Amino acid sequence: MAEPINVVVTGAAGQIAYSLLYQLAAGSVFGPNQPINLRLLDIAPMVDVLKGVVMELEDLALPLVREILPTADPAAAFKDAAAAFLVGAMPRKQGMERKDLLAANVKIFKDQGEALDKYACKDVKVLVVGNPANTNALICSHYAPSIPKENFTAMTRLDQNRAQASLAARLGVQVDKVQNVIIWGNHSSTQYPDAAHASVELNDKVSSVPAAINDDAWLNGVFVEKIQKRGAEVIAARKMSSAMSAAKAAGDHMRDWWMGTKPGSWISMGVVSDGSYGIPKDIVFSFPVTIKNKKYEIVQGLSINDFARSKLTITAKELEEERAEAHQVLMP
Ligand code: NAI
Repeated sequence: MAEPINVVVTGAAGQIAYSLLYQLAAGSVFGPNQPINLRLLDIAPMVDVLKGVVMELEDLALPLVREILPTADPAAAFKDAAAAFLVGAMPRKQGMERKDLLAANVKIFKDQGEALDKYACKDVKVLVVGNPANTNALICSHYAPSIPKENFTAMTRLDQNRAQASLAARLGVQVDKVQNVIIWGNHSSTQYPDAAHASVELNDKVSSVPAAINDDAWLNGVFVEKIQKRGAEVIAARKMSSAMSAAKAAGDHMRDWWMGTKPGSWISMGVVSDGSYGIPKDIVFSFPVTIKNKKYEIVQGLSINDFARSKLTITAKELEEERAEAHQVLMP
């Protein structure tokens, strides 16, 4: 058995954390041989709720869980952290403009970036789930200059999973027969779900998804909009945002980062742009990546047609606007 690693979950009294913590405790993210110390961070008014979450974690009776620390103190939570799920964020309240939401959240992610910088392991893997996830991840990395910026990522895996499930349903195949659908850009309604490079295993033969579906109007229209608006659709039905599927996606994202991607397949993650595909540098943009030895590489050389380019430009522009708004809040 390996030594335990410290794993932080922020927003630990919330909905997503409630599903995520079980996956961590059961070993489905860091593997069945990796014990974990759980660091549960939430705001002070939620500490009593956290105590209930701790009781339930104890009652799971799962052997990989060693220490559990419920806290409202970022210094204690991030101490020697090897992995951090930054789920906690200020929710959008009625009448709140996007700008107000961004302002409330960039402050949280500035503070957490500073705490990571001071207390976490220098190779900590940080996954930002709390919205606006891409820009929160950018801010967090900015305030943690001693940690490589490659260690900060934002979650678009839920969008990827939604896209994969939607294509599989359309093709009438099991969901794992579809691979390599891409989410480009922001985790928002400007994201571009792109099936152009996706493949499907049909009758023991691998084909391209666009050829198998043979309906570009559907792929460029209904499919794109459905994935862009799926989060809102779930909220309308559940009166709460996606939680079980978001937690599963967070586990998928971190597991692939930790364990690596399978040969020939890639996944989408929001990462600090290095200018690949002509995307502006220094925004957290979702790209297709492969992962080996806990390091990701952006997949290079994919063809981008005019339709895709127009979509990439829209979502990159939104991220540049968010970055400008965030800077205005932090450095008025
Ligand atoms: P929730 O409201 O159930 O839980 C959020 C928790 O965060 C609360 O317990 C709250 O007290 C806590 N929190 C607030 N400020 C905090 C701070 N400064 N430090 C630590 N904890 C803090 O929300 P839920 O459903 O768990 O969602 C969490 C976030 O994830 C939201 O921002 C949501 O929009 C986002 N989300 C992102 C998705 C993605 O694909 N990237 C998908 C679904 C949700």
